[in-house]
Formats: sequence, C-alpha cells, structure tokens
Amino acid sequence: MTEMLQPADAPLIDTDPGPVELHARNVAFDFEQTPLHWIPGHPMASNVISMLNLLLPEGERWFVATYNEALPFVADDELAATMRGFIGQEAIHAEAHDKALWEFLDRHGVDPRPFQRQMQFLFRKVLSPKHAWSQDKRRRDLVERLWLIAAIEHYTAILGDFALNNTWRQHHADPAMADLFTWHGAEEVEHRSVAHDVAVYFGDGYLRRGRAMLFALSGLLLVIHRGSRFIAKCDPTMTYSYRRMWTEYFRGARAGVLPTLRSIIFATFSYFRPSFRPEQIGSTAQAVAYLASSPAARAAGS
Ligand SMILES: [Fe+2]
Ligand SMILES: [Fe+2]
Repeated sequence: MTEMLQPADAPLIDTDPGPVELHARNVAFDFEQTPLHWIPGHPMASNVISMLNLLLPEGERWFVATYNEALPFVADDELAATMRGFIGQEAIHAEAHDKALWEFLDRHGVDPRPFQRQMQFLFRKVLSPKHAWSQDKRRRDLVERLWLIAAIEHYTAILGDFALNNTWRQHHADPAMADLFTWHGAEEVEHRSVAHDVAVYFGDGYLRRGRAMLFALSGLLLVIHRGSRFIAKCDPTMTYSYRRMWTEYFRGARAGVLPTLRSIIFATFSYFRPSFRPEQIGSTAQAVAYLASSPAARAAGS
C-alpha cells in the first residue's frame, strides 16, 4: 500500500528474493510489561489492534483444519509442501494470539471468554465440514471454504503490509506487542500467495472468487466492529461511545497507527481486477528482512 507511512529508520529494501520456502518460527512473547494501551496516546487504536487477538486463534485453527482436509486431494508435491509450510505458520500464529488472550487481555480485566465462544461457534460449527452431506456436496463446500480462506488471506496480507509500514515505533509502542503483530504480519506477507494458489488449484472461477470476497468482507467488518466494541466496553479505563470509537479510529489512521479506510477500500477493489495477483501486495524482501531482525524470531533461532 503505497500511502502507508514508512518508518524513518527503516532500511531501504529493493531486492526481491523471489519465492521463499515457508517454515514455521517457534516464537514466544512476554507480555508481562505490556500495558493495555500499548500504543501511547492511542487507547482506542491499541484496543482495535488488540481485538485481532480475539479473532485470530479460532480463525487460524480453522485455516489449519481446512488445509489438512484439502491436503489429501493435492497431487502437486510442490503445492502440498507449501501448504504444509502455511499450516505450520498459521498454527503458531493461532497459539501466539491465544496466549495474548490470557497473558495480556484477561490480565488487564478484559475477559475474552464471551467473544471467544462466539468465534468458536462461527469457526467450529457454522464453517465446519458437514459429514452428513454427499461426497459431491462436501467437495463443493471444501472449494468454497478454500476460496473464503483466500479472500480472508487477502486482508491478512493487507494488514501484514500495514504492520510492516506503520508508525508504531515512532509512537513508542510496546516492543513485545508490536513484535507480535509485525512478526505475524511479515509471515502473512511471506505466504500471501499460498491461499490463492490453493483455491485456484481446486477450481478457479470469477463468480466463486467474488462470492467468497463479499462473504469475507461482510463477515470481517461485522466481527471487527463487534470485537472493537467488545474490548472498548470491557476496558475499565475508558468510556465507550460509538461516536468516540470512530473519531478515535480516524485520528489513529491519520497518525499511521491504524490502516486507513481508503487503503482497505482500494485493496478490496484490487482483488476484483482480472489481473490480480497476491504478490502485488507488500514486499517479500521487506517481510524477510523484518523476520531476520524480529526479537521473537531471532530468539526462536530462525
Ligand atoms: Fe496468520
Ligand atoms: Fe495467513
């Protein structure tokens, strides 16, 4: 996203390393010193980003389960190996954010359980495979879910690019929480083409692609809105109002600590271009460079 602010001290990265072999990094984060408002001066923006901890564990476990279901149907060895790399990365993302639910949100008086139950219902019941269906119907349903993952991964790549190009550091954001989201964002950029390639392998179609995107977009808007409101209402240090939430959102976007609506809308339309490729979002070189310097990734020895 070209309009994102580039950190002043970010190294210039202009050499694309090409396709990289995906591997999971066994990271760990210590949130003991992390305040609830981990971006100083931006309590609502901190809560909006923290809200992702509520969505990601269940969503990414669902990715892993769906890919494990799809793997036996993949005859292309290279694609299967890439899918296994993707599965490894998403499984660790889910566990890292799950840890943040308890060691960060719960510790600060934001009980994640009511929202977690809603996410479990969505991903474990509504979007689970239906074993009573015929083989044909189950196969069609699997392809629809793979396209849904591709559409969601479009947004995780956009957010990953944002995580790599925001102003958290200039705002002295908490290093552990900033590293959690930037490490995750970098891996999302690193594996941004996998979900699209897998969905195309199982059956491409403009209608299928568009339908999945509309479903993903409306679902994400609803869940992000509900999740942000949930944390704001649980936050013992601030009073929630709908108007304040939006005012603070726009202030955060102007400061570069939240993605702008314009960038999200532009990226959404770009998905519908016939020439769309996930590689058009973000930079692999920048993602790999961050992963080489991320404190958590370095501590994990990767
Ligand atoms: Fe992820
Ligand atoms: Fe991902």
